[in-house]
Amino acid sequence: MRLPEKGAFQSSLLHWYAGHKRDLPWRRNPDPYRVMVSEFMLQQTRVETVLPYYDRFLKTFPTLQSLARASLQSVLMVWAGMGYYARARNLHAAAHAILHEHAGMIPPTKKELLSLPGFGPYIAGAVASIAFHEPVAALDGNVKRVVSRVLGLREEISTSRQKKMLENSVGELIPSGRASDFNQALMDLGARVCVPKQPRCPECPVKTLCPRPGMGDQRKKRTVRRI
Ligand code: ADE
Repeated sequence: MRLPEKGAFQSSLLHWYAGHKRDLPWRRNPDPYRVMVSEFMLQQTRVETVLPYYDRFLKTFPTLQSLARASLQSVLMVWAGMGYYARARNLHAAAHAILHEHAGMIPPTKKELLSLPGFGPYIAGAVASIAFHEPVAALDGNVKRVVSRVLGLREEISTSRQKKMLENSVGELIPSGRASDFNQALMDLGARVCVPKQPRCPECPVKTLCPRPGMGDQRKKRTVRRI
């Protein structure tokens, strides 16, 4: 993105988010433990599916201490139905590590979070920015697509060098003190407007800043050669 447009992008996106953001329980109360649980659940499961599980999980394990002290079996039982059980195992192991190695306090930076079980660049960035307002990127599939389109990059980001570059670009775009709203605005824009195949560009708050509005996913369908 060209630098003179950065301020316009930030203010248009945040203004849109203020009027369109989804009312979600971890947004109403962004306590670090609640944000951590939400991000583990949302990593491979849609928001609508997560909501009832999230509610049940927090009723059963309302604090980090209660989760860390619970048996793995009881955690897996509450998780049952959402799949990808490695996430539940990692979340339980992370709670244990935070209780015993960080005096029960969730570390506030992406760098420290990355050393915990199950925390890759996405979850570490999401928890650091949403719960602690650290100006760092949280690149999930939706955010990668939005930012690639706005920056005029190819959407199939694959190498770790490209990912790192995109993370740095997003980090530089975050307005001071607004990391939580800004990152979640990118997530919501990607989930609801800047969707893969038929993006709803007329509704987009940053359409005038986008180099190729309306292009959507231009990848050709792969044709299978029959021999
Ligand atoms: N997907 C992953 N994290 C999210 C969040 N905090 N809000 C909305 N969608 C998400």
